[in-house]
Amino acid sequence: MSTPNVFWFLPTHGDSRYLGTTKGARTVDADYLRQIAVAADTLGYDGVLLPTGRSCEDPWISAASLIGATKKLKFLVAIRPGLSTPGLAVRQAATFDRLSNGRLLINVVTGGDQGELEADGLFADHAKRYEISDEFIRIWRASMAGEGGAAGFIFEGKHLQVKGARTLYPPIQKPHPPLYFGGSSEPAHELAAEQMDVYLTWGEPPAAVAEKLADIRARAAKRGRTLKFGIRLHVIVRETNEAAWRAAEELISHLDDEVIAKAQAAFAKMDSVGQQRMAALHGGRRDKLEVSPNLWAGVGLVRGGAGTALVGDPETVAARMREYADLGIETFILSGYPHLEESYRFAELVFPLLGKGKESGEQSLTGPFGEMMASDIVPKKVA
Ligand SMILES: Cc1cc2nc3c(=O)[nH]c(=O)nc-3n(C[C@H](O)[C@H](O)[C@H](O)COP(=O)(O)O)c2cc1C
Repeated sequence: MSTPNVFWFLPTHGDSRYLGTTKGARTVDADYLRQIAVAADTLGYDGVLLPTGRSCEDPWISAASLIGATKKLKFLVAIRPGLSTPGLAVRQAATFDRLSNGRLLINVVTGGDQGELEADGLFADHAKRYEISDEFIRIWRASMAGEGGAAGFIFEGKHLQVKGARTLYPPIQKPHPPLYFGGSSEPAHELAAEQMDVYLTWGEPPAAVAEKLADIRARAAKRGRTLKFGIRLHVIVRETNEAAWRAAEELISHLDDEVIAKAQAAFAKMDSVGQQRMAALHGGRRDKLEVSPNLWAGVGLVRGGAGTALVGDPETVAARMREYADLGIETFILSGYPHLEESYRFAELVFPLLGKGKESGEQSLTGPFGEMMASDIVPKKVA
């Protein structure tokens, strides 16, 4: 596998050591987000994903607060078409791209919970939301690219209209910051094929991912387009397989069945096909969670969205990543609980196997690398 892009995740809706309880819970605030972002940046992760939704801190403001604390890290910021006007969304993105020196990536999120969207002021069913997304992204791309020249861009859609749209301060990335997008329904695949740069899937078993990617590729080919692909997974990696599986069990060791049933009932109300596919992997049961080799659905018992984790020792996890890479996945968006410690653990244990990270097992000649002994004896090199 050529070296993949590896992203981490900023848990703006909270972080914990044990799912579904306050045990081991920690406060996610400006200091903690900064710690994770700085860790991801210095460890050599390529970027971080910030989610959107009413359970999350606002992704734009969270990401903007971290520009100055990081150097190379990219920010994959989720936006919901329909919640703001296209013009405001364009300006926010262009400014962020400029102020971060070209470190913005956009995750287009159509949304899958009608109740939550109505609470935010957007009244549209699944089909209408995708129509809005399609028009919104057309306007967004055209305005970013400066279409319409000095007179500005004009668009008359079924749901959205703009007249004289101009981006006076254009983004650094041309023609615009790349558009990432995830969605598993038919209109989602159409929208991806038509307008997106990178298609993201949650961590379904490889055969299911292969089918999705084939479908997107075929729809894109009809339009003379190609896309890149990424996957969103949790990771539970330990030095041995036994320890990794033990850690998976520990993660849900304080979770009771009532909490699982409540979460599953809430997910069942959503109209997101992607969410339905995640829930179907485990069916709310905790006794059949390894849904494909080393792919564990325990996180999805209570967490919406990305609900599966790769579990195993470093070689096993890297091998499973390779299987996805062979299908065409180039970007892995990972996370683990708690997010700070696990960012270190994954980088230490798995980056060298992926050809990533600064140190990759090499001894630093310019500063401490491991703890010095007896004032001048360097640590023994162990693979
Ligand atoms: C990697 C990834 C990240 C996502 N992030 C969010 C998010 O932050 N907020 C959200 O509401 N939905 C998120 N989603 C959900 C999708 O954007 C989409 O709205 C949902 O799956 C409904 O579309 P569907 O019915 O076509 O599957 C994400 C999906 C993927 C694959």
